[in-house]
Amino acid sequence: NPVPLQQHSSLWLLRGSKASAHSCVTPVLRYRLFFSHPQTKTYFPHFDLSQGSAQLRGHGSKVMNAVGEAVKHIDNIRGALAKLSELHAYILRVDPVNFKLLSHCILCSVAARYPSDFTPEVHAAWDKFLASVSSVLTEKYR
Ligand code: HEM
Repeated sequence: NPVPLQQHSSLWLLRGSKASAHSCVTPVLRYRLFFSHPQTKTYFPHFDLSQGSAQLRGHGSKVMNAVGEAVKHIDNIRGALAKLSELHAYILRVDPVNFKLLSHCILCSVAARYPSDFTPEVHAAWDKFLASVSSVLTEKYR
């Protein structure tokens, strides 16, 4: 994919008037992760993990806000997510494999919410973007 990430218009889903993508995607997001990849539940023993629970919605919202921040600061994702990177590495100690699982769930959630907008180009842009976010959030492990 020769287009630099910064120039992808395809990330519009979290920008401007379509920012509602955020609220549409969040309710399904965490449930999808826990349903498809039950091993990820081990990080959330203190959560009510039933579909649509207030905790899941609240947490999905926090995650997608952070994703939205990364979109806004696409030239400096590392700076924008610095605190979260430390949190996940040093305090939560989330195994990096889980970021691939969550990224795939975000991709599926966006595709399911915007089926006709989810062209191969949008798919590629989101995949690349989520890989950048994941690499920032896991780089402190090394
Ligand atoms: C907390 C974002 C991946 C486990 C958080 C918070 C945010 C966030 C914004 C809240 C921080 C706060 O309250 O100050 C993200 C993003 C991710 C990601 C953007 C990747 C795109 C993961 C993965 C796991 C995970 C893959 C494990 C499967 C947790 C846990 C918490 C947390 C256990 C604390 C929950 C709580 O007790 O409230 N994350 N996260 N995160 N994250 Fe992540």
